[in-house]
Formats: sequence, C-alpha cells, structure tokens
Amino acid sequence: MKKILIIGIGPGDPRHVTLEAIEALNRVDVFFVLEKGAVKRDMVALRHEILQRFATGRPHRVVEAPSPPRERTPADYLACVDDLNRDKQAAFERMIVGELGEGQCGGILAWGDPALYDSTIRNVEAIAARNGLEIEVIPGISAIQVLAARHRITLNRIGQSVHITTGRRLAEGWPEAADSVVVMLDGEETYNRFADQDVEIYWGAYLGTQDEILIAGRLKEVVAEINRRRAAARAAKGWIMDTYLMRRV
Ligand SMILES: C[S@@+](CC[C@H](N)C(=O)[O-])C[C@H]1O[C@@H](n2cnc3c(N)ncnc32)[C@H](O)[C@@H]1O
Repeated sequence: MKKILIIGIGPGDPRHVTLEAIEALNRVDVFFVLEKGAVKRDMVALRHEILQRFATGRPHRVVEAPSPPRERTPADYLACVDDLNRDKQAAFERMIVGELGEGQCGGILAWGDPALYDSTIRNVEAIAARNGLEIEVIPGISAIQVLAARHRITLNRIGQSVHITTGRRLAEGWPEAADSVVVMLDGEETYNRFADQDVEIYWGAYLGTQDEILIAGRLKEVVAEINRRRAAARAAKGWIMDTYLMRRV
C-alpha cells in the first residue's frame, strides 16, 4: 500500500522542525509540493531548505505542481475555498497516483501544524478514500505557539478559554464570551474595528523568519504603528502573514 506522511514544518524557522518530523522526512521516497507562484516564493524556498538540510538520510524525489490560483476577494468565500481545495486535491491526487509506486512513502510538508487552518489532512483523506492510501500525521509548531513564545505570554488567562478564529469571522464581531481571541488569516487588518475599545494586542508577522516583526500593547496606542509597519512590510516583500492575540483589559 502507498503511504502519505503529512509533516508539520513550523511557520518559517527551520529550527522549528521537530525530531519526529526529521525522522519522518527521512522515510519519504517522494515529496509532493504545490508551487504557489511568485508571492509565496519564500514559503516554497523554506520547504526546499528543510529538505536539503534534514532529508539527507536516503535518496528522495521532489515532484512539484503549480498551486491553483485563489481569488482574493470572492463574493462567496466558502464556495471559493471549496473550489480551491478541490483543485488542490486534484493536483495532489494526480501527483500521488502518477508518481508514487506501490509500497512507497510520499511526503507533504504542511506549514505550521497541519491541524490548524490547513486543508492537507482533509484533502489527503479524500484522496485516500478513492485510492486506498495509508496516512500518518506528524505535528508541527504552529504560528500561534511562536507568537506566544516571542511575546512571552500564555494564550489563555488562568482558567479561561482561548478562541481561535479568522479575520473574516472576527469581522462579524467579538466572539461571544471569548476571553482571549487569536486571529489568523486576516487580510483586512480587522483588529482596527476594536481600536476604540479597552483591548490589548500581541501582534506578530513573519514569525520565525529573519523579517519577524513583533508589536504589543494597548490596541488604541499601537494600532497606528501596526498598520504602518504591516503596510510597509507587505509592500516591500509582496506578501505578509500575521497572527495576533487580543483580549479585553
Ligand atoms: C493557512 S493558515 C496556516 C496556519 C498553520 N497551519 C499554523 O499552524 O500556523 C495561514 C495563517 O497562519 C498564520 N501564519 C502562518 N505562518 C505565519 C508566520 N510565520 N507568521 C505569522 N503568521 C503566520 C497567518 O495568520 C496566516 O494567515
């Protein structure tokens, strides 16, 4: 039977690849990578660096396919994500069926931890249901863990809960009864909506990379700086990935 290892690689720093992930990298015959085009060049480069640095124990091949394009501001977001996942699934399925031999082990590198806002597990499960694959998941360090460590904070206050959400959901309002709110996938600087409230923010961009930016404080006092640094970094690099925690004070 063919086997697929879904390996969490952390959010940008090769040192965040765990020993378990390194062992897994060295069991893989064929790595499958979806190329993401110019904007995500850096993310693909990190994947290649990780392979060069850690997957040294045995010969392997890397098979790449272009990543399906994503509409930036679709009218129907969920339908768009469904379409994107279907296209990604089809791309992975073509590569796995065509390039992985019987009894071989394939590897897919998942950004951060594959359990958090990542479609790889769902996509590979669907491919497995049609093609009979074995699947193993290796956890990775998430951007959220790096954010908390860099700011030297805990995600939850004592005995309280943490709510993890997206910028799109946060735009609907502060999650009911949530104490600490962690926000990912926010292309719209949604924290601005809460700048008139008594809220503290711990913000991080390009976490784990050389370009890492960290800003923390009362939101109303630091919001202008976050907006300014965010826009400048995005313009300079062509893309940005940021994550933040907010809580009422
Ligand atoms: C598709 S989700 C993937 C999350 C990933 N599975 C994880 O565990 O971190 C992408 C979002 O994760 C966050 N993210 C990932 N890498 C990051 C980084 N290096 N710095 C800041 N945020 C990051 C951003 O909120 C980004 O929009």
